[in-house]
Amino acid sequence: MLQQVVLTGIKPTGLPHLGNLVGAIQPAIAMSLDNQKRAFYFIADYHALTTLKDAQLLKAYTLQVAATWIALGLNPSRVVFYRQSDVPELFELSWILACFTPKGLMNRAHAYKASVQRNAEIGEGDVDAGVNVGLYTYPVLMAADILLMQTHWVPVGGDQVQHVEIARDIAQYFNRQYQRAVFVLPEALIDKQGRVIPGVDGRKMSKSYNNTIPIFGPSDALRKRIVRIPTDSSAPGEPKDPETSTIFHLFRLVATPEQTADFHAQFLAGIAWKDAKDQLFSRLAQHLAAPRERYRDLVKDPAMIEGILDHGAEQARDLAQDTMRRVRLTIGQNLR
Ligand code: ADP
Ligand code: TRP
Repeated sequence: MLQQVVLTGIKPTGLPHLGNLVGAIQPAIAMSLDNQKRAFYFIADYHALTTLKDAQLLKAYTLQVAATWIALGLNPSRVVFYRQSDVPELFELSWILACFTPKGLMNRAHAYKASVQRNAEIGEGDVDAGVNVGLYTYPVLMAADILLMQTHWVPVGGDQVQHVEIARDIAQYFNRQYQRAVFVLPEALIDKQGRVIPGVDGRKMSKSYNNTIPIFGPSDALRKRIVRIPTDSSAPGEPKDPETSTIFHLFRLVATPEQTADFHAQFLAGIAWKDAKDQLFSRLAQHLAAPRERYRDLVKDPAMIEGILDHGAEQARDLAQDTMRRVRLTIGQNLR
């Protein structure tokens, strides 16, 4: 049976949070259990470098993000799990793809456009202020990630769909030029439920808003974050609307239907906000207890995580070299 490749990149720019868990980690792990698919998941450390230039932090986040995924059930014997920077073929392909990428396509990429717009808003004369070329050509490297592994499916959040479409466009320009189906045309896979998990301030949970609940942060940090969730001024005993409460929404993510129904009833019966927060804290702590233990063991053993990523890189490079042989022949180069 021919398996289709499903591939996604995880940027090591911070500690993974509950939004990542529900929106990315759980669905990706579930997909890796599908025998019809071959999963390639990688730590996108070169993409992180566009913004994160602290060497120690980049190294620490890389290991912590890898440990998080393994602790939550990623099985390295089912998933080719690797670090992007361990696959040098990516750079050969990036350059080649760059030669098939209209500059205008990069001008329209949303991360770059957002920077330009921000500069205009603050009255900065140079619209490109603060933009490095890595950020500008970010989608080309991402296209290389995807096309190098002959990817069919790319599970991503809504903000990354445009990048997958760009990868598809570049693949088409290339295939059309040489009249050969060298690259598979990739497609984004978006979580059908498309749920956006709220952060402790009620906005989308995101590292950029400093409103996250890290999955494996220290447990006093977890409590502090939960205490920060804003509530209205209704007193204990006054009925409360669960549907508009961030506390209830977060609770529901980690509770059984029975526990959720019980919490719902407590809201209608006028639970005190402090009790509601205490219950959310205990539920989360309990839900994450077993993976947290695995996580603690893993981060104590960085050599083991490195071993898993090294092994993944070897597997990824096998496929990468296969693709590069075809690409080199197609564009008129010699095989090495
Ligand atoms: P952040 O916004 O914290 O920087 P990322 O952009 O690194 O998060 O997110 C990686 C993936 O995690 C996204 O593509 C998306 O699938 C998922 N994700 C992030 N935040 C949320 C959220 N609040 N709700 C649901 N999914 C999320
Ligand atoms: N750009 C993605 C993000 O910010 C990470 C990423 C890099 C990626 N390369 C990828 C995702 C390839 C999917 C496929 O989240």
